[in-house]
Amino acid sequence: MLEELERIQTAGLADLEQATSEPLLEQWRVAHLGRSAPLMQVFDKFGSLAKEARPVIGKRANEVKRLLEARLAERASALHEQALVRALQSETLDVSLPGRPSQQGRLHPTTQTLRRIYEIFAEMGFQVYRSREIESDEYNFELLNIPAHHPARDMWDTFHTQTPGVLLRTHTSPGQIHSMREHAPNPVRVILPGMCFRYEQISARKEIQFNQVEGLAVGHEITFGDLKGTLTDFARRMFGDSVRTRFRASHFPFTEPSAEMDVECFICGGKGCNVCSHTGWLEILGCGMVHPVVLQNGGYDPAKFTGFAFGMGPERIAMLRHRIEDIRYFWSNDLRFLEQF
Ligand code: DAH
Repeated sequence: MLEELERIQTAGLADLEQATSEPLLEQWRVAHLGRSAPLMQVFDKFGSLAKEARPVIGKRANEVKRLLEARLAERASALHEQALVRALQSETLDVSLPGRPSQQGRLHPTTQTLRRIYEIFAEMGFQVYRSREIESDEYNFELLNIPAHHPARDMWDTFHTQTPGVLLRTHTSPGQIHSMREHAPNPVRVILPGMCFRYEQISARKEIQFNQVEGLAVGHEITFGDLKGTLTDFARRMFGDSVRTRFRASHFPFTEPSAEMDVECFICGGKGCNVCSHTGWLEILGCGMVHPVVLQNGGYDPAKFTGFAFGMGPERIAMLRHRIEDIRYFWSNDLRFLEQF
């Protein structure tokens, strides 16, 4: 039996030399270590051996088995290595070849501008307050000190739903009332971004759907100086440190006093060009001190609280930043336009 094992081992090792590929090696494994291999038959006959012979034969049989298994593993890894080397030589890969560019999407120019606005106001401690796009007449107008038949309503003509008194908001200002009612009597410092709608003749400067970012700060001893400081700082961060600003008196029913803020035309540097209609200034927002009636509607005692508010159009700001000449591009989905940002 020991001789038999010797033969098995010699034959196995000799045959292994011929196993020069992975399939041949597999054949070798079946022949020499498979269930019906001579070595396995030795194990099968084990029971019929004389008791004294068993330890000797068993030990030797296990040695042969381990040896064959070890050589099989060595051979397998050597073949694998060779295959890899061959593949590397035959399938040469030019790693210096430029890759195919993948089309990368990006944010819409309005979204980019909105995010910049959020960042700037976040740095100044303003939180984003989201408010609904469908509003009641009460919130869109009345609580903002614009009663029915007030001539100022003409500026904010809108789309009405079939439910009387329910409409698409014309500005983000109704969000002022929502946020005040939620926070009163605590101070508020929020910006309110979102979509607004107007019944307008669409033109290069007017759309029926656009974004606004409203701002509101209510608290004790908030002054017009705070309003000017906040908005001037905003303009610097948005348009650059050297930008000049001015406030012009204006009128909004929900603020008193009211103003509009202009930035110096950065296209002509204030000299006058067709972008600024030869005035040297570009209007970027409306603002003012929150009207006492509005404070009261929001739940604050106007004798104890003051506040300022402002509203700006991010599309308009994007138009100024990127010198976009027609507001209709924002909704036209024209890739030639969108891919420029
Ligand atoms: N809601 C105004 C509009 O749509 C913009 C505005 C002006 C908002 C003055 C304000 C403000 O909060 O104080 O034209």
